[in-house]
Amino acid sequence: MEMQRRLRNLAHPLMLGAAFAASATPATTQSEQRVRSPDGRNEVTVESRDGGLYYSVRRDGQAVLLPSRLGFLFRADSLHNGLRITSVTRDSADQTWTQPWGEVASVRDHYNELRVQVAEDRAPGRRFAVAFRVFDDGVGFRYELAESAGFADFEMMEELTEFALADNARAWWIPANKPEPDRQEILYSSGPVSRLDTVHTPLTLQMSNGTQVVIHEANLVDYAGMYLVNLGGRTLRSTLARWADGVAVRGRAPFVTPWRTIQLADRPEDLAPSTLTLKLNPPSRIENTSWIDPMKYVGIWWSLHIGTETWGSGPKHGATTANTKRYIDFAAANGFGGVLVEGWNLGWDIDWFNTGKANFSFTRAYPDFDLPEVARYAKQKGVTLIGHHETATMIDNYERQLEPAMELYRRHGVRAVKTGYVGDLTEHGHAHQSQFMVRHHRRVIETAARNGIMINVHEPIKDTGERRTWPNILSREGARGQEFNAWGGEGGNPPEHETILFFTRMLAGPMDFTPGIFDLLIERPTGTPRQPHEARPRTTLAKQLALYVVLYSPLQMAADLPENYAGQPAFQFIRDVGVDWDTTRVLEGKIGDYVVVARKQRDTNDWFIGAITDEEARSFEVPLSFLTAGQRYVAEIYADGPGAHWRDNPLPVVISSHPVDSTTRLPIELAPGGGQAIRIRPER
Ligand code: NOJ
Ligand code: CA
Repeated sequence: MEMQRRLRNLAHPLMLGAAFAASATPATTQSEQRVRSPDGRNEVTVESRDGGLYYSVRRDGQAVLLPSRLGFLFRADSLHNGLRITSVTRDSADQTWTQPWGEVASVRDHYNELRVQVAEDRAPGRRFAVAFRVFDDGVGFRYELAESAGFADFEMMEELTEFALADNARAWWIPANKPEPDRQEILYSSGPVSRLDTVHTPLTLQMSNGTQVVIHEANLVDYAGMYLVNLGGRTLRSTLARWADGVAVRGRAPFVTPWRTIQLADRPEDLAPSTLTLKLNPPSRIENTSWIDPMKYVGIWWSLHIGTETWGSGPKHGATTANTKRYIDFAAANGFGGVLVEGWNLGWDIDWFNTGKANFSFTRAYPDFDLPEVARYAKQKGVTLIGHHETATMIDNYERQLEPAMELYRRHGVRAVKTGYVGDLTEHGHAHQSQFMVRHHRRVIETAARNGIMINVHEPIKDTGERRTWPNILSREGARGQEFNAWGGEGGNPPEHETILFFTRMLAGPMDFTPGIFDLLIERPTGTPRQPHEARPRTTLAKQLALYVVLYSPLQMAADLPENYAGQPAFQFIRDVGVDWDTTRVLEGKIGDYVVVARKQRDTNDWFIGAITDEEARSFEVPLSFLTAGQRYVAEIYADGPGAHWRDNPLPVVISSHPVDSTTRLPIELAPGGGQAIRIRPER
């Protein structure tokens, strides 16, 4: 195998350095064109056959995607027959950039590109190109529609891009059509790809030969979000989110689509951190990013979800001046950067989450909340408020107030805003992932950037790497977060949930999961804890700590009530843990079972390890060979205590310190539903 790989590399010499070597070839014998990744392992073939245009993907010579059709369905007609490759151009690049923040400090963008020019043989004779970029970690391709006779304004009903899986790979997925097309807050299922219906991306697939495949998209700017629909058997096809009138995309050629991405890896551990989508987004539009600050935060939030306080007015109103100051004091005392305040603005007293009813003001406060005073107090304590804009998907109402709302926050030194889109369709019936909403989200991000404001979106548009271009979009939700563990009933997240998230949702980008619940039994005011069948975090306390390292977010919440951290030695880990990383290494991982990840903090020599398991107890021995050789370190370990179990004994944590170095093999023991959190710092 190794020899084959080298031979391939010889046949396709690497173009190193910042090479931009483009050359055009008239495609005379153009029926089949190939391009390989710089390491020679991934190969894309493009061919036109019987008037159809197809691409296929191989890794180490083995099929990943069989010939898969390309094309479009417009309102007027289709564009996927009578197609001919007219010429091809080749290109390559190798460049590295430093991220303002991230799971890794620097990203290498190294690819070979094949751009295939295609013409329609019959009237109206439209022309387009498909650009394929082949990286060592996967493939990206997009369509570039050229302006040609009879092809300017268009209404696209469907993009006909197929992904014909070469075997009945095991998929981890959430449905994109049940109960509503756009809901992302659903538990993951797994099973053979042949059993899928319509699913969200990222879609993670494991082939029988062990190859890991993740289908997603990059640079969704002015287009509809893509779901994947099963055409029967193992072939998936793109299907797009819609405007209320059923159209997917309105555009005007010349026009480029988002990139369709196929991440490839040998083992699940090699999937993260995923930088493929970042490489397929344009560089930052924000020149000076020094105001963009990853941080930990607390806030008036968990109390609202467990019901001890309310968003709306009344005796339990959470967002009062006094209560917010209490949170500011707590944040300042513990070195946290922000305090989220939900429920300070008018509009929470009605049935706001029933689509069509919400009518929030984003500038007017309840009488018991004094924004100027709270903002002044926060500033004096060196903490920023994190503002809140729950829109309930009433987009007109929000857009009308967007400028003054952001401006108000800016004036009061509020440096971050959490937005929210509870509801399935907008007031006009556009889907959450529709082109309408894609445009809306861009507008919000850009308006925020102009006001020096960072954004954290809940019920978001999916992450397609926007943070490269707009580094002020720090985090988002877009999956079931901790909130599901608050709501009582039977609906909490199962112990395996986060071990799936890591290999699915998290491959798209940061998630505001909101870890750090210490009162895991959620004691009621009467002192009785919730029962095991009731929703509550189904983890041990040590696992709550480990989630800070496992589930990456540059905004990381200490989600529990301040009083629940009082007198808890384990809280020290939340105070210490980093939020911005130089390096990330996945040491162990099996989708749905466990994850062990090590991350080196940016600008310090501290490493953090997070290990989590599902409902099974597990043990690992982790070589610390990533530490600097010859340097002595101390490992501060927060482990599941004796007898710890997510179901009936989640609280025991044993904290210990041990000298370690790069030759140490660290034993890690996890309880059922458990975890372990470790800080490794140079010996002082
Ligand atoms: C849902 C969000 O996920 C949650 O964090 C927020 O508190 C509520 N909406 C209200 O905006
Ligand atoms: Ca939510």
